[in-house]
Amino acid sequence: MHKSLFISMTFVLALGGGALAAEYDASNFSADGRKWQPVPAGHLPGKDNGAGKGTHNAGEDCGICHRPDGKAPVIFTMAGTLYEDRAGRKPLQGGEVILQDRDGNVISMTSNEVGNFWTQVPISSNPYAIASHGGVTHPLYSTDELGFHPADPNDTRSWQYKAWVKSGNHVRPMVTIAPVGGATDPASRMSCNMHHAALGGRGALWGTGKSTLSFYPQTHLSFQKHILPIFRHKCVHCHIPGSTLTRLVTQSDMEGEPLTQIDYSRSLDLVSYEGSSVTSGDTVWTKRGIKDMTAGYQDDPDSSLVLAKTRWQTDGKVIHGGGAFWSTSDPDYKAIRQWIAEGAQDN
Ligand code: HEC
Ligand code: HEC
Repeated sequence: MHKSLFISMTFVLALGGGALAAEYDASNFSADGRKWQPVPAGHLPGKDNGAGKGTHNAGEDCGICHRPDGKAPVIFTMAGTLYEDRAGRKPLQGGEVILQDRDGNVISMTSNEVGNFWTQVPISSNPYAIASHGGVTHPLYSTDELGFHPADPNDTRSWQYKAWVKSGNHVRPMVTIAPVGGATDPASRMSCNMHHAALGGRGALWGTGKSTLSFYPQTHLSFQKHILPIFRHKCVHCHIPGSTLTRLVTQSDMEGEPLTQIDYSRSLDLVSYEGSSVTSGDTVWTKRGIKDMTAGYQDDPDSSLVLAKTRWQTDGKVIHGGGAFWSTSDPDYKAIRQWIAEGAQDN
């Protein structure tokens, strides 16, 4: 079974999803801009939900049928299924999938009872979009003397947006989604699994406010049994050993190295207690581990960065590059806090 976010070619149906003031502009579509930004303000849950019941084929590639010349009579710009967990075992109902495109438009869809969401709202294009074909990358659009050339909004390969998943107390950024792949086919689709695979797994589009384990003891927390599963569940798709590789998307990328290596993790590896060191080509990625963030905070666990950064702030703000994961009363949060108070042991 595929658990995926799929895209098919757009047929422009203006649904009045108005452009917000751009705290967001084309400069965000550099290699650096692919990193996290807070969820755009003013999104309205479900604003861009497509019409219909849409309870069939959950987890399947919607775009196989909902594309031009596909079996389905309706064509979506964006559709997919949202899950509660990375493995895609349980659909998430009522989750919010939020996109912001290159023009600052915010698109917001709510997942239904089987986790499905879909929309027909157009997504704006990136004039510097790149396609790759047979291992060769080439720009889809050339630029004019001002550095701009209007890209084709009907060509999915040139679309570009950032995405977030929000569910209750939990908001997860999915950084910038590169132009849709598929080489030469302008109606090609893409699975979000291609971007959000962690540790070699394929992963699903997911987000959850739920705690990782259903039960934690009050005291004598074990790193292996209770704490590591939380980090593995919620943190490792960014805080992994080594680097993250990304595709070309911008003009500056085109002028530079053919592939851009990005560290989404601030040199923090939350898979391992001690930290890690990975050599890739000439580059050595040395990362701190869980210990470096937690040891020495027995007396004041709440100010350990793994907690201080990742909770919702009292003013409702999100200050962490990876989103907000919990309030201070969340069972996962309390378990980590207790484990730190007990000495943050590798036990
Ligand atoms: C195997 C082909 C196929 C796939 C895959 C598919 N659909 Fe459909 N879909 C159809 C057809 C055919 C129709 C029109 C007939 C109907 O209404 O059942 C349709 C109709 C719809 C409708 C409008 C009618 C209704 O049920 O409300 C929605 C919404 C919809 N699909 C959503 C989705 C979503 C979301 C996905 C992916 C999770 C998806 N579809 C995957 C074939 C498909
Ligand atoms: C979507 C990617 C992503 C996810 C998921 C994520 N992070 Fe992060 N994290 C970042 C980025 C980007 C930074 C650097 C920017 C910043 O400091 O906010 C960061 C920074 C941090 C820092 C600060 C390190 C320092 O030295 O300043 C801590 C601590 C941290 N993350 C903990 C966590 C924990 C704990 C989780 C899981 C509950 C988590 N992160 C999940 C992307 C992520």
